[in-house]
Amino acid sequence: MNGAKHLVLVGMMGAGKSSVGRMLARQMGRPLLDSDEMVEERTGRTVRAIWASDGEATFRALETETLIAALSADEPSVVAAAGGVVMSEANRAALATSDAHVVWLLADVDLLVERVKNGMHRPLLDADPEGTLRAMHRDREALYKEVADAIVSVDHRSVHDVAKAVLRCAG
Ligand code: S3P
Repeated sequence: MNGAKHLVLVGMMGAGKSSVGRMLARQMGRPLLDSDEMVEERTGRTVRAIWASDGEATFRALETETLIAALSADEPSVVAAAGGVVMSEANRAALATSDAHVVWLLADVDLLVERVKNGMHRPLLDADPEGTLRAMHRDREALYKEVADAIVSVDHRSVHDVAKAVLRCAG
């Protein structure tokens, strides 16, 4: 895969990083490192509970810790990075300097709005999910682009087809 060790999926909440990541991990015979799940495993608490009791800054620090841990894993892995990882310059630098192939799963915001309706780990979307997603997309678009080695559109594609497209551009 381009000689890179890890395959990292980035993109907005609802873009399908976890479900596409799960399929790719199975197809490639690799472990899936899902950063929200890693945060929950490490702390024994849910993303929502951390957010509610300790606030966003604590969550973001844990997010950075798990991203670095995932990128440092010895075994070539598929990494489903949390949507917010690109917000931190340190995280972007870690992605740029790591031996990873980074793919941005790009989705139309209307699709994201439909998909995020039952996301328990997304406290940012509790109020006005659509407005929040539109603003986030505007704020983050250039950052996803900055870290991406490749961009795959997920619109009108099944998980299977997105996984296939990711493999094609990573190959
Ligand atoms: C967030 C994305 C979520 C989760 C948290 C914040 C974000 O992960 O980490 O709710 O800021 O984009 P997913 O992208 O896996 O939904």
